[in-house]
Amino acid sequence: MKHITVLKQEAIDYLNIKPDGIYVDGTLGGAGHSKCILEKLDQGFLYAFDQDQFAIDYAKNVLKDFKRYEIIKSNFRYLKQELEKRDVHAIDGLLLDLGLSSFQIDDESRGFTYLKETSLDMRMDQSQTLTAAVILNTFSLDELAKIFYVYGEEKNSYKIARKVIDHRPLNTTMDLVKICDQVNYKEKGHSSKRVFQALRIAVNDELRVLEDVLKDAVQMLKPDGRLVVITFHSLEDRIVKHFFRDESDVDPVLKKLPMVMDQEGKTEVLTRKPVYPSETEMSENSRSKSAKLRALRKR
Ligand SMILES: C[S@@+](CC[C@H](N)C(=O)[O-])C[C@H]1O[C@@H](n2cnc3c(N)ncnc32)[C@H](O)[C@@H]1O
Repeated sequence: MKHITVLKQEAIDYLNIKPDGIYVDGTLGGAGHSKCILEKLDQGFLYAFDQDQFAIDYAKNVLKDFKRYEIIKSNFRYLKQELEKRDVHAIDGLLLDLGLSSFQIDDESRGFTYLKETSLDMRMDQSQTLTAAVILNTFSLDELAKIFYVYGEEKNSYKIARKVIDHRPLNTTMDLVKICDQVNYKEKGHSSKRVFQALRIAVNDELRVLEDVLKDAVQMLKPDGRLVVITFHSLEDRIVKHFFRDESDVDPVLKKLPMVMDQEGKTEVLTRKPVYPSETEMSENSRSKSAKLRALRKR
């Protein structure tokens, strides 16, 4: 299935693209956003990151008519290092459209879906060694329960972790689904949804990489530069919301000094409330239903 770009126009509007600016798409995927950015550049340049070789191969084809860009196969956590290697020390904007593309979810061999029997993989970067199977078959009871609880907000985290240990080795997604079905049999939605989300976050260290990139990106933003983030679940959104709030606060030392005229923070939050997809977008693309966009501007 094709990946449909979520909040396309909204993301581009909040990036406020300058034709000669340096932009970064941290999550290239199907290149939907990257293509829109490139269409607005004349003297500018785009660096596009993805850690998934399949996404990169697909995106190269989508962007074949453009010249002013480079694709970097790397986790966006290394954004600062990768850009500095290229002598880029300041940027006009960064876009993050987090999570997975539809290609990854729909490719059964990647192990992201609880609807099909497949290997317990869940790596976005196929070259890393940590997989969902490694976590399920080697982590301790406490470690597993913590992953399910913290990253999945799964209330039966200990019961599921105990059963995982009793049923080792787990080989396929259905081995895990059967365990979740036994524990979460009263659940209205799918019994395994939260556990699969938790494992995916743990395998790809998704929350920590987000915290890392936000810190580096805000430092690298030029004045009036933009940081635009689209999230798909509450754990990610909370990180972005709190980071934006803290960054835009006035320095607490300055705040106490009545004579200091400049009582503005270093950055300004452009979205007091998150931006949601329109009703039309949600009805045309069910995956967009959980999306939230937040944007920040460097003063
Ligand atoms: C939702 S898709 C992006 C879709 C894209 N905006 C579009 O319009 O086609 C997210 C992409 O980001 C990649 N990705 C997610 N986390 C990443 C990370 N930490 N570093 C690099 N790439 C990442 C995934 O492999 C996936 O291809």
